[in-house]
Amino acid sequence: MKKYSLLFLTLPLIFGSCSQKDQEAIVRSPELTNQVEFGLTEAGVPYYRVLHNGEVVLDTSALGFELVGQPPLRSGFEITGWQTGSEDETWEMPWGEQREVRNRYNEMLFTLKETKAPGRELKIRFRAFEDGIGFRYEFPAWEGTDSLKIQDEQTEFRLTGDHTAWWIPGDWDIYEHRYNTTRVSGIDAISKRDNEDLAATYIPVNAVNTPVTLRTDEGLHLAFHEADLTDYAGMTLKVDPESLTLTSGLVGSDRHGYKVSRKLPFHTPWRTVQIGDRAGDLIESRLIENLNEPNKLGDIPWFTPMKYVGIWWEMHLGLSTWDMEATQDMNTFSTLGNEQTSSKHGATTENTKKYIDFAAENGFGGVLVEGWNTGWDHWIGFEDREGVFDFVTPYADFDIAEVNRYAREKGVEMIMHHETSAAPRTYEQQMEAAYELMQEYGMHTVKTGYVGKIIPKGEYHHGQWMVNHYRKVLETAAGYQVAINAHEPIKATGLRRTYPNAIAREGLRGQEFNAWATDGGNPPEHLPIVAFTRMLAGPIDFTPGVFDIALPTRANNQVNTTLAQQLALYVVIYSPVQMACDLPENYAGQPALQFIRDVGVDWEQSRVLDGEVGDFVAIAREERGTGNWFVGGITDENERELTVDFGFLEPGKTYRARIYRDAADAHYRDNPTALAIEEAEITAETTRTFHLAPGGGFAISLMTD
Ligand code: NOJ
Ligand code: CA
Repeated sequence: MKKYSLLFLTLPLIFGSCSQKDQEAIVRSPELTNQVEFGLTEAGVPYYRVLHNGEVVLDTSALGFELVGQPPLRSGFEITGWQTGSEDETWEMPWGEQREVRNRYNEMLFTLKETKAPGRELKIRFRAFEDGIGFRYEFPAWEGTDSLKIQDEQTEFRLTGDHTAWWIPGDWDIYEHRYNTTRVSGIDAISKRDNEDLAATYIPVNAVNTPVTLRTDEGLHLAFHEADLTDYAGMTLKVDPESLTLTSGLVGSDRHGYKVSRKLPFHTPWRTVQIGDRAGDLIESRLIENLNEPNKLGDIPWFTPMKYVGIWWEMHLGLSTWDMEATQDMNTFSTLGNEQTSSKHGATTENTKKYIDFAAENGFGGVLVEGWNTGWDHWIGFEDREGVFDFVTPYADFDIAEVNRYAREKGVEMIMHHETSAAPRTYEQQMEAAYELMQEYGMHTVKTGYVGKIIPKGEYHHGQWMVNHYRKVLETAAGYQVAINAHEPIKATGLRRTYPNAIAREGLRGQEFNAWATDGGNPPEHLPIVAFTRMLAGPIDFTPGVFDIALPTRANNQVNTTLAQQLALYVVIYSPVQMACDLPENYAGQPALQFIRDVGVDWEQSRVLDGEVGDFVAIAREERGTGNWFVGGITDENERELTVDFGFLEPGKTYRARIYRDAADAHYRDNPTALAIEEAEITAETTRTFHLAPGGGFAISLMTD
């Protein structure tokens, strides 16, 4: 603490004692782990540099903008003012990976002004935390200008070497790509175009989507992302393989000649760099949430984290359909031939009751029903999808009142489904009526979806126009006590802190790809990458829990994990809503179901025990309210031994443990369900080594009662 205040006091001195052209200011995190250096070049170009434990991890990187109808805003500046600040607060997550979050940083806000006409002002705010840094641009009011249009943002991240990168292409429409592992110089997003499994995809340049995670040859981890994406376009990072520089590339729109349009004053989202010596530090970092505004909704007692089941996997397996007459095939994004149009409608009253019974028997809180409303016969492959869904009219064979009555009687809550078919204008017209209907039936969670190309043509899922749509949905829904689980969403940027009804989202290649992707589904390394990339953004509706791993109805597909790994995912992949996605009949008589019954969904604290990006990860989480702990470990295609030191448990206590692990001969490909279950007594003194099969894992429940 002493060290900190000394340094902090000297900051303005360091700053003030330099001549104008060499001006460089430093802001350091309270414990001095990370340091940002900021200055102007001779030409008045703002730049920054980032050091971690004294080593440069981002070299001199320029900052600026290209504007529409105005000269660029990136040179000719002088520094006209600066302010220092610091924070050390602890806030509580209403639900989350942990109850308490410490938000502790030092910051500096610089005011820059062009020395020549038009003499515009730009402010840049830097925050240094122990787990990384963030900065954002703040545009003050400009005399004579009330708004501006950004052509692109030119924020550079100049890397210090050709690091290993785990990346997906900078697609403007979708994040549902396979992750790639290459050196930064080997990133080739263009080669990921024309993916036939994606209903909408647009990759204009060689860029990546965030979070993107890098590891230096010295073993330091850097993850780039953004926080508080509000009324702005999503940021991709353009890759220059030669200079090893990433530069912000905002998602655009073909309807406008700009990427962002804003009234002055405003500020951009935070540009974030999480920095971790251990890979697991990235997962434990709460930097993204800390860079968001505090809770605006207050308590939301109407939403409780839960496990849920649903009429969902059966459609992805091709066993039933969303539409009543079965004319649509999700798997090929096409219309079925006439010979297949017999009714296989999934969302019938009777079938729903079967799922409600199953949920009630196992203590699962929710039941999702997809395909309950009219319009699905006009869903995929249709150009004009406006007005197709109204979100209030059930199909004739789905008695919404009866289903809700029955669910309530059984102590289960129905989860609503709104597939907008990427027609957001229709959804905005309908959503209040749709949420009113939910209120009438006491439903508090909706899964939304945006499959297909956005209507109006020319907009993209991740552009400013859609960012504002997703926000409008979140805010409107909150007014009706409705929580949102969005599929085909805008990426998570920590807004769950401000809007705790933003409970989960997809925004990655989810479980569904295992059922029908033409490339055979998610490879075993997928989730050991996701945990260190996509999961840094926020909760994931991955929908784990496939027990019938071979997928007998899908000749060319199977799930590329073992059964033990499917269990481990309830701990490893965080979400306040966790699906048990398989068919009720596939859980019947399975002892492994006990783990899904027992596992928590809301956490007091979380610890990453071990892990390497793309290889393996093991996480322990303590359940809120019970003191029970759960541990999950997963590996990629390589088998490995993982040693767990249970020192995180409460000392002196004996926990009743049930261990679900890969049997000695388990293998994701040809023996995925070979599972061993054993009981043990475990204390904080215990250390144990587990064998993980190729594509395997282990899951442990540690109960206190
Ligand atoms: C895509 C979603 O990711 C999936 O979960 C859903 O079943 C379909 N869209 C239909 O809405
Ligand atoms: Ca999807």
